[in-house]
Amino acid sequence: MGDDVIHRMCWRTVLLMLATTLVGFKSDGASLCPAGCRCENDVLKTSCASASLQVVPIQLNPELRVLDLSSNKILHIHFSFEFYENLVSLNLSDNRIKTLGNSNFNSQKNLTYLDVSNNQIENITKDSLKGLKVLTHLDVSNNTLQDINSMAFRDLHSLAVLKLNSNKLVHLEEQMFKNNRELRKLYLSDNQFLRIPTVALTDALHLHFLTMSRNLLLSIEANEMPNLPELHTLHMDSNIISEIHPDGLSGLPVLGYLDICDNNLTSLPTESLAKLSSLNMLKLSGNFIESIPPVAFKGLFHLKTLKIDRLELLEEIDVRAFVDNINLEKVNMDFNVKVRTLPTRLFHSNSKLRYISVRYNSLENLDATHFPLDQLSELKIGGNPLQCNCSLGWLWQIIKESKSKTLNQTDNLILDENDIICSGPEELRGAMLSTASSTQMSCSVGWIATISVIVTVIFVLIVIGGVLYWAPKHKPRRTKSDLSVEQNPVPQCSSSKRSPFEPVQVEKYIIPPPMVHDYRSLHSWDPYEESSINIYEPLNDHCDRPHIVYV
Ligand SMILES: *[C@@H]1O[C@H](CO)[C@@H](O)[C@H](O)[C@H]1NC(C)=O
Ligand SMILES: *[C@@H]1O[C@H](CO)[C@@H](O)[C@H](O)[C@H]1NC(C)=O
Ligand SMILES: *[C@@H]1O[C@H](CO)[C@@H](O)[C@H](O)[C@H]1NC(C)=O
Ligand SMILES: *[C@@H]1O[C@H](CO)[C@@H](O)[C@H](O)[C@H]1NC(C)=O
Ligand SMILES: *[C@@H]1O[C@H](CO)[C@@H](O)[C@H](O)[C@H]1NC(C)=O
Ligand SMILES: *[C@@H]1O[C@H](CO)[C@@H](O)[C@H](O)[C@H]1NC(C)=O
Ligand SMILES: *[C@@H]1O[C@H](CO)[C@@H](O)[C@H](O)[C@H]1NC(C)=O
Repeated sequence: MGDDVIHRMCWRTVLLMLATTLVGFKSDGASLCPAGCRCENDVLKTSCASASLQVVPIQLNPELRVLDLSSNKILHIHFSFEFYENLVSLNLSDNRIKTLGNSNFNSQKNLTYLDVSNNQIENITKDSLKGLKVLTHLDVSNNTLQDINSMAFRDLHSLAVLKLNSNKLVHLEEQMFKNNRELRKLYLSDNQFLRIPTVALTDALHLHFLTMSRNLLLSIEANEMPNLPELHTLHMDSNIISEIHPDGLSGLPVLGYLDICDNNLTSLPTESLAKLSSLNMLKLSGNFIESIPPVAFKGLFHLKTLKIDRLELLEEIDVRAFVDNINLEKVNMDFNVKVRTLPTRLFHSNSKLRYISVRYNSLENLDATHFPLDQLSELKIGGNPLQCNCSLGWLWQIIKESKSKTLNQTDNLILDENDIICSGPEELRGAMLSTASSTQMSCSVGWIATISVIVTVIFVLIVIGGVLYWAPKHKPRRTKSDLSVEQNPVPQCSSSKRSPFEPVQVEKYIIPPPMVHDYRSLHSWDPYEESSINIYEPLNDHCDRPHIVYV
């Protein structure tokens, strides 16, 4: 120990002499600025980024507060910062430093930012960071760290952000964060953790943000995630997690953001997720989930954004999958390549839903009832092998209507219409749905047939009217089958100019529109001006005729 102090004193003296020789007694800025550096003495800042330096320059202004030495070829930092006691920010990123040594920052009582990322540092010893009492940001990312002494951070009482990502860490020592009560953000991604470092994290009581992406986590056992009462963001994507214990994620009462994309989950961890009652955004993409069962996201009443795309084994989605998620606004289900159908009214309970994306699934047909069209602002369905028959008439009509509107109208439903390509029938294969003609999108034989139907109906009604006028009235028969004409698909009505998002208009998409049309035309020809049921009365007696034409 004594040797070390003497050694240190010697160095100091030598360096001081050197500096004095070079600088004179008063350092006066610009003239002493090494080649490749920019010295701003008025603000006590020097930048030597990419200056090909091999050692830390010692002749700079000792009052310096900000020193940037990034992207140089500095090999070691022993006794290099003795002169610069006022440093607030020090950047040593992207050099060739192999070790932080011992007590090299002991004089930096005011240092708040220390960046030693992108070096080759293998360990942080007990005294490597000694003395950094006000350090708030420490970046040791992208080194070759394997070992961090459990006392390494003991002086860092103010540490708020710690980046240890992109190293070779396998575990963290117990009590490592005992003195870091201010720790808010911890980056542990791109290491080799097999388990969550539970005991070390137990002390990080005020942690807000934690990343553990791209490690080797296999599962999350009961209580493996310690109680972190303030944690609101957790990244655990790209591990190989295949199981999450129902109590694996309890203890995170305010977690709002959870990313567990690209793991090995084969079923939805409904029970574990249900503990995360504050969850706002959930990402589960790229897992091996085969079905989404009823109430799959149980208890997630605050969930706003759900990403369940790239589930390459997913085939089945239950109609009640999202019933608990009453605040859901955005759902992404792209590239679920095995999904062939969506249950109708899947989003029935999600009255706040604004955005749905089901691009690149295997959907052949879509019904208007699949989507809450009156409330959506964006619907993405491109890349599906759609059969462009008249069942897609509603979609075709929305595209047509949105094209006829001015571009900056805000209530427009945004569709990825250029990607909505037909896979069939033959004559439309490969064409955009928007290019289909109204005849191709209509379920009837065409307009001429429609007109002849109407003319026939009018003629029949007049005949019946005449017959009934002269003949004595007979008892009316009222049965449900009177209305059977409604079930027959008839041509599209495209005359309306209303927005597709007014409720009435939505009804129009859901109920085959021509029925509405037909009903009205019949109504206006009601010879008796009586109640609506009676309108069908004369039709019933001659129902053969309209049936033949409609079928
Ligand atoms: C640290 O900063 C404070 C005020 O910002 C100043 O008074 C003090 O002298 C500085 N200490 C050192 C060692 O530079
Ligand atoms: C350090 O320098 C690198 C490279 O110039 C830069 O990306 C990084 O943000 C700097 N760090 C700090 C704390 O300023
Ligand atoms: C990691 O650091 C090395 C230098 O040590 C650098 O070449 C590499 O680009 C860095 N990687 C990233 C992702 O920054
Ligand atoms: C830390 O790393 C340095 C440089 O690789 C090595 O000399 C030293 O022995 C290591 N210390 C510990 C405690 O592992
Ligand atoms: C995780 O899933 C991948 C892709 O299916 C597979 O190759 C790998 O073996 C799985 N790993 C484990 C540990 O189950
Ligand atoms: C349109 O095609 C879909 C998918 O093949 C089919 O389910 C539906 O019955 C068709 N509709 C009509 C009216 O033919
Ligand atoms: C867009 O809307 C604004 C106000 O809502 C209007 O003044 C403007 O003329 C519109 N522009 C176009 C191109 O319709």
